[in-house]
Amino acid sequence: MTMSVLLTGGAGYIGSHAALALLQSGFRVCVIDNLTNGSTEALRRVQEIAGKELHWVEGDVRDGHLLRRLLIQHGIEAVLHFAGLKSVGQSVLDPLTYYDNNIGGTLQLCQAMSEAGVHKLVFSSSATVYGDPATIPVVESCPTSSPENPYGQTKLMAERMLSDLARADARWRIAVLRYFNPAGAHASGLIGEDPREIPNNLLPYVSQVATGRLKAVQIFGNDYPTPDGTGIRDYIHVVDLVEGHVSALKRLKNQSGLDVWNLGAGRGYSVLEVIKAFERVSGKSVDFNYAPRRSGDIAQCWADPSKAWRELGWKAQRGLEEMLGDAWRWQSANPNGYRDDELTI
Ligand code: NAD
Ligand code: UFG
Repeated sequence: MTMSVLLTGGAGYIGSHAALALLQSGFRVCVIDNLTNGSTEALRRVQEIAGKELHWVEGDVRDGHLLRRLLIQHGIEAVLHFAGLKSVGQSVLDPLTYYDNNIGGTLQLCQAMSEAGVHKLVFSSSATVYGDPATIPVVESCPTSSPENPYGQTKLMAERMLSDLARADARWRIAVLRYFNPAGAHASGLIGEDPREIPNNLLPYVSQVATGRLKAVQIFGNDYPTPDGTGIRDYIHVVDLVEGHVSALKRLKNQSGLDVWNLGAGRGYSVLEVIKAFERVSGKSVDFNYAPRRSGDIAQCWADPSKAWRELGWKAQRGLEEMLGDAWRWQSANPNGYRDDELTI
């Protein structure tokens, strides 16, 4: 029988790609999003690509009453919880908003799920919980450390809350997925990352320099102990990432308690390597200059994703150039993101 799933934050970057992957894998999809950083146009395009419909509600995950109603009315069996705020810098300036949204939202969601008798959950965590990892590549058993910023704290606290919940009640089956650096877009070029403000993350920034919307990339630090002095990260194609969610969701049937998987490609690229590869793939030049290190950044981080391969049968299939090519197809076809086509569905 077709399984119905609820995606919180499904109108955002990763959630919209997940909605598409789930529709294409035969799930019935229901989305709740308060549109603080999501777009109805993304959902319209998801349905266009899939040739299938999803159900969508504008609402907040901190609204327990609405959540309970959705869970029960739509016969939801599992929830993928993407909803949250994700700007590290903003979280430092406005920590209460981050704790309210990310911790308050996860708490309300779990309470509503519990009341509705839904106990399968896939949670969007982050490699940020490892802090500056002692050993690289990072394995899941690597100690988590107290992140330097409130955003990272909310991810670690939410993980701990979920772990306590799974220990207290054996009905819960929870997959915690620690993302490394999601990037790229669906190969159609119809959906992608559409930051409302000036991007904080490298890839959307580089793409917007290539379209001429921004002038030059500031490379935060060229004195790291890495081969070219710039920071190294594990960029993972967003389509690979969401396929990891489909695998984790399928495994929840046979899982008990809470388990954690790294979702990364398993190799790192430096900022300079990313910029050079982007220029090759797009045929555009990307101006850059060197700036001081960004506070809170680490020199290098990449995943050991072998646990996900062993246990979920998942590994990233798409390389850096495909990721950058897809990011460029999306950005060049939609220089203003979804804004030109935003409408209500
Ligand atoms: P995004 O901002 O594009 O998507 C999040 C969505 O959640 C948005 O559509 C937003 O409108 C919605 N939302 C926020 N608060 C809400 C609330 N209270 N109620 C209902 N909807 C709400 O971000 P994304 O990149 O798609 O990230 C998805 C998840 O993955 C987040 O939890 C994020 O912290 C986590 N994550 C992202 C990255 C990354 O680099 N993109 C890395 C690690 C973890
Ligand atoms: N960088 C620049 N210039 C920019 C933006 C980034 O040089 O304009 C550099 C950073 O210093 C870093 C690399 O590019 O070396 C990647 O930076 P991002 O901001 O794209 O990503 P981060 O690794 O800092 O953080 C991302 C997410 C976090 C998540 C973390 C997990 O933003 O939410 O990955 O590893 F927690």
